[in-house]
Amino acid sequence: MSTVTLENKTILVTTAAGFIGSNLVKRICQEAPSATVIGIDNMNAYYDVALKEFRLKELVQYPTFTFIKGNIADKELITELFEKYKSSVVVNLAAQAGVQFHHQPGCLCGIKLGRLL
Ligand SMILES: NC(=O)c1ccc[n+]([C@@H]2O[C@H](COP(=O)([O-])OP(=O)(O)OC[C@H]3O[C@@H](n4cnc5c(N)ncnc54)[C@H](O)[C@@H]3O)[C@@H](O)[C@H]2O)c1
Repeated sequence: MSTVTLENKTILVTTAAGFIGSNLVKRICQEAPSATVIGIDNMNAYYDVALKEFRLKELVQYPTFTFIKGNIADKELITELFEKYKSSVVVNLAAQAGVQFHHQPGCLCGIKLGRLL
């Protein structure tokens, strides 16, 4: 397996306020301080939003981290982010737990983000 170096790269992480995304962002900020990390999350209320806000509060202390509140299914926003930040690495973890929520308009989805890549 090959290794991707993150030094001096701009990395887009979806679900930055989520459990895994926030821990990933933290780890990148700590271990690759020359990298720029753009995190996106729609801050949905599937579970307590205060927990997501708590995670973000810690992450925004890293000067290399920028948070964008938004939906990854919003093509205009994602296009704008790629144009602005020119991310060369994307970690797409976005998912909506709960089958009933998958059928709501605007829910998810990694496939939509992937189509832009
Ligand atoms: N937590 C685990 O143990 C575990 C295990 C295996 C796989 N996973 C996978 O890892 C991923 C993340 O899981 P997690 O536990 O961190 O979940 P999480 O619910 O804590 O985080 C997901 C985040 O995604 C955000 N989100 C959802 N839809 C979005 C959208 N359309 N646009 C922008 N943001 C959106 C939510 O607001 C949330 O903050 C998921 O794909 C999950 O299936 C998690």
